[in-house]
Amino acid sequence: MDMLVWEEGYKIGHREMDSQHLILFSLLNQLDININNGMARECVADVLGALGSYIEYHFSHEEQLMAEYGYPGLENHCSAHRAFIAQIDRLQESAASGGTLAAALKIRGFVLDWLLGHILDTDVDYARFIAAAAKS
Ligand SMILES: [Fe+2]
Repeated sequence: MDMLVWEEGYKIGHREMDSQHLILFSLLNQLDININNGMARECVADVLGALGSYIEYHFSHEEQLMAEYGYPGLENHCSAHRAFIAQIDRLQESAASGGTLAAALKIRGFVLDWLLGHILDTDVDYARFIAAAAKS
């Protein structure tokens, strides 16, 4: 699998959130490295755990930021986050119940697709709102 390369076009223009998105990309690459190098299942499971924790951490920061600025799309955005976490939890459970490597690959693909779509369509919207609010 190709390593992910962070592109300028993925930036939403909020420095802290961009760097958190970049960390998510790095964790996906770390997951890829562990899978491709045939690392022990425990190592793959560790990265999956770190990815899950970081996603929750990142979402809570984003939600706090949107709330702080009174972003009108907060509720919908939070629902998208919750639905994503529920999906990840289901995939994590199947990883824990034996099929770690296959499940890890599935999680990597799922997180990557979701993240890119979410960053480019949804996150970009709150970032614009916050940037405009910060200017006024
Ligand atoms: Fe988000």
